[in-house]
Amino acid sequence: MLEKLTSSASAAVESPGPDPKIDLRVASGAAEIEAHFKIRRQVFVEEHGLFEGTDRDTHDDEGIHIVACLSGKIVGAVRCYPEGEGVWYGGRLAVHPDFRKYDLGARLVRKAVETMEGTAGVTRFLANIQIQNVRFFKRLGWIRIGELFLYRGVRHQVMEKVLGRCAE
Ligand SMILES: CC(C)(COP(=O)(O)OP(=O)(O)OC[C@H]1O[C@@H](n2cnc3c(N)ncnc32)[C@H](O)[C@@H]1OP(=O)(O)O)[C@@H](O)C(=O)NCCC(=O)NCCS
Repeated sequence: MLEKLTSSASAAVESPGPDPKIDLRVASGAAEIEAHFKIRRQVFVEEHGLFEGTDRDTHDDEGIHIVACLSGKIVGAVRCYPEGEGVWYGGRLAVHPDFRKYDLGARLVRKAVETMEGTAGVTRFLANIQIQNVRFFKRLGWIRIGELFLYRGVRHQVMEKVLGRCAE
């Protein structure tokens, strides 16, 4: 997988080097959080047209913002936010189009789960998943909850990742 990533990414990343460093982390500082929002805007506003102008909302005020970093360049994002007693949601999973199908999306989802498992008081982790991505999440161990619903003209499915342990 890394070999595939190295050969494909080298043209698009300024200086990835022969062995690109991949880092998944909670964004820290204004610049990383801005980079997180930039990826989301590129994908959900410009590419998908799901939102006009910005996809930011009030969940970002209390959310945890995670980034995928490839040789120093942030190319992926996902956020987690609280939605009631002990219940958190993951959302806005996005990988820059030039860097898809290289495992970064799966790594972002795993990092979000790991972050929730390490966050005090989190008992459930859910997500509203676009229908075309349900199979992707099932492969990562997520299960369907309830029926499909329509959001912004796109069919979505609530899915849950049962947490390995609940942080105290
Ligand atoms: C969904 C998304 C984040 C996946 O990111 P990615 O980096 O391409 O995914 P990965 O490379 O980690 O995929 C891991 C595996 O799942 C597969 N996969 C990726 N997207 C898939 C999909 N929509 N359906 C089924 N399988 C998928 C990949 O082929 C890969 O399979 P492999 O391990 O056999 O090679 C990316 O396509 C994206 O940003 N899409 C636009 C935004 C979006 O739809 N966000 C999710 C909203 S719910």
